[in-house]
Amino acid sequence: MCGIFGYLGTKNTATSMILDGLKALEYRGYDSWGVAIKKEDGTLFVQKHIGKIGNARIPSFHSHIGIGHTRWATHGGVTEANAHPHIDCTGKVAIVHNGIVENFEGLKLDLQNKGHRFSSETDSEVIVHLIEEIQKTQSDLTIVMQKLRSKISGMNALIAFFPEDESFYIIKNGSPIVVGSVDDDYFIASDASAILPYTNNVYFLEDNEMLHISQSGISLFDNLGAKKIAKFTKLSYSAKSAEKGEYKHYMIKEILEQPKVLKNIIDTQTHEIEIAADLIKHAYGTYLIGCGTASYACLAGTYLFSKIAKRHINFAIGSEFSYLIDFLKENSLVFALSQSGETIDTIASVKKAIKRKSKLLSLTNSEGSTLYRMSDTNLLLHAGTEKAVASTKAYTAQIVYLYLIAHQLADSLDDGKKHVTQAIHTIKNLIEQKSKIELLAKEIAKHKSIFILGRGVSYAAALESALKIKEVSYIHAEGFAAGELKHGVIALIEKETPVILFNPEDETYEDTLSAAHEVKARGAHVIGVSSKNDKVYDTFIEVKNCADATIIPNVVIAQLLGYYLALAKNLDPDMPRNLAKSVTVK
Ligand code: M6R
Repeated sequence: MCGIFGYLGTKNTATSMILDGLKALEYRGYDSWGVAIKKEDGTLFVQKHIGKIGNARIPSFHSHIGIGHTRWATHGGVTEANAHPHIDCTGKVAIVHNGIVENFEGLKLDLQNKGHRFSSETDSEVIVHLIEEIQKTQSDLTIVMQKLRSKISGMNALIAFFPEDESFYIIKNGSPIVVGSVDDDYFIASDASAILPYTNNVYFLEDNEMLHISQSGISLFDNLGAKKIAKFTKLSYSAKSAEKGEYKHYMIKEILEQPKVLKNIIDTQTHEIEIAADLIKHAYGTYLIGCGTASYACLAGTYLFSKIAKRHINFAIGSEFSYLIDFLKENSLVFALSQSGETIDTIASVKKAIKRKSKLLSLTNSEGSTLYRMSDTNLLLHAGTEKAVASTKAYTAQIVYLYLIAHQLADSLDDGKKHVTQAIHTIKNLIEQKSKIELLAKEIAKHKSIFILGRGVSYAAALESALKIKEVSYIHAEGFAAGELKHGVIALIEKETPVILFNPEDETYEDTLSAAHEVKARGAHVIGVSSKNDKVYDTFIEVKNCADATIIPNVVIAQLLGYYLALAKNLDPDMPRNLAKSVTVK
């Protein structure tokens, strides 16, 4: 949440680099944005705006140092004043911040009593006034920043920019921040994807580290202020996969990329799948955890492991797992799923599990992310950067991974690969006929509610499908276990209510068909998704049977439906209201 970008170096194009950096990070928050850039005449140019950065321009001038921020509001509404950067009373320090300063209220009162003038309602602004206050008695900036660190609490990442000194201090505790270095140019960002156009040589700051960058180089400090070496690594992925190219939206680009992403897992990840299966085999209980879409992939995993591998794998929502860990043992395995590898709720739970000495296996899409770095074993989805807020290709890649691990445990990996290959063909067919789903979206866009039903692994698919539809179209969508209908849910069904029914030809088929009759009898518009048509369906979407991998094309239908519902309602599917791609605050 919130995107931070900074540039310090030899080029005089800081303005355009900072703007490009913010555009690359906009998916992290798009309430408002701002920049603070030092001009060649020595003055500080500050500009802030409400809304998305989109095609925004800033006056073009030469500069070789500056910072920028794109915001997802936590404390203080969406106003220009609350946008970052924040500047101290003297105009000599500027900061951009991601996270929450938990003790800001007391600090603010104290600073106000000392005469500091606040111009925003944010927690972040206390940082810059605190720096100014500490500077009154201390001129060594490194000591100033050490003192600042000891005074603020919470999970934070920030850049403090000292224009006169032409230097940055970067602090990290909790929220992610990465530095890229090439020759004498330095790039700082919340996410490596914003740095990759310039270099893949990066250093991910660890919690409680502080980095000083100036024209004469970098110095890294540990939590006690002792100097340490920053070991840079070379990332293997490129900036290219993060481009929108010819597509209107990232969401449709990422939906259409799925056949390629899933095939890549079949072709290249066998060794990693074997490693994961082996860890699960030898663990004293495995716990799948994740948030949002990743949590629904985990839930699907529990069904797949039970049915295919005959194993009980536990599942918990990332933000709830903290309250469920008292029984974890040294040989328990926590298997954390996260596209970004930065989701704070998952990371916080994982940290508690690590304290209990449990082992951590992670499956992320972000090499070098926090979760990736803290894991005993880290697997990568290799899905390419996912930019749209609604997760699509990362979800199906997670399902394929779990599906193949389950098959590996059952000694039937080849069968698993065969089913996934069938699922890929089915997705390609669906994509070819996507105009049909677009038409359906136009038909049902006027409805206030949509329900999605399924049993077994299709129940997990129903939950994910509902999330996809609601987050981009703002239509109230609910996924239910089809068997739960009669226990209360059916009261919601009215004449013409769209009800999507995932009904693969598996052990759930007949019972799910009964649910179709029950909602039809109450006037619902029944949309059957199955390999077999039935007269109970008002609309039928054919999905070939791909054994338990049928969940994959089924969810792709909901992804396309969500996308076209958003378009039908004239909404931007890439940046839904109130959301950000990466949830890095609690
Ligand atoms: O990066 P993560 O996979 O950990 O993200 C978890 C959720 O925040 C994420 O899946 C969210 O629910 C998406 N917007 C869903 O489309």
